[in-house]
Amino acid sequence: MRLVLVGPPGAGKGTQAEFIADRFSIPKISTGDIFRANVSGGTELGKLAKQYMDAGDLVPDQVTIAMVRDRLSEPDAAAGFLLDGFPRNVAQAYELDSLLGDLGNSLDVVLELVVDHDEIVKRLSGRRTCRKCGHIWHVEYDPTKVDGVCDRCGGELFQRDDDMADTVRHRLDVYAEQTAPLIQFYDGRSQLLVVDAMGTVEDVTERAISALVESSETADQS
Ligand code: AP5
Repeated sequence: MRLVLVGPPGAGKGTQAEFIADRFSIPKISTGDIFRANVSGGTELGKLAKQYMDAGDLVPDQVTIAMVRDRLSEPDAAAGFLLDGFPRNVAQAYELDSLLGDLGNSLDVVLELVVDHDEIVKRLSGRRTCRKCGHIWHVEYDPTKVDGVCDRCGGELFQRDDDMADTVRHRLDVYAEQTAPLIQFYDGRSQLLVVDAMGTVEDVTERAISALVESSETADQS
């Protein structure tokens, strides 16, 4: 399965990506995670990306596309992948087509997670991420047993710099202006699956996986 997850900041893409990738035994490729790893590692890419990320803006397309091209060319992505956070505008969507074409592949499905605005704000303000294993927690919805410590690996939890209220507002504007047009783009190609992402993490996972299984069975029959 070659799958893209799309949805506004805080919709639960990273949370669901972990479960969906696991269910279909495909690698989860998150451009946000790759940028954040580069920021932590102090690489040139990280230094460049940080200024855009901190402002809540998109990192320039040519940098992001080159990074995704390298990642999708790795052997573990040959049989399928889940992209979380890419493409993020229509130009990146066309680049993804061309990149997959070069690799002899094409995209199967785009899964949109739909959440209302107030819920997004609650999810982002309480998000905590493990520095060591990257698992995503929430202080209210999915708290750890010990405050600030990851239940899975004992790593330290941190709050993302771009989850500050002003930056969140800007990220939502950027999503509406640049990323939301992708919904019509993929719907026009009959590649879009829409999932209600309100409710518990488990409910959303169940809905997402059922929709994906049904869509792949339909594709197999045609
Ligand atoms: P990125 O990391 O991709 O951020 P995003 O798209 O804004 O999405 P988030 O990671 O904020 O939210 P999410 O939907 O993954 O929600 P999560 O699962 O964590 O990108 C960051 C930056 O990198 C961008 O701003 C940009 O600068 C750059 N970038 C990345 N890709 C790029 C690209 N392609 N081009 C250019 N620049 C790019 O969930 C949020 C919280 O809610 C968590 O605490 C979670 O526990 C909780 N939660 C999740 N689901 C539920 C639920 N059902 N019920 C209750 N709580 C829930």
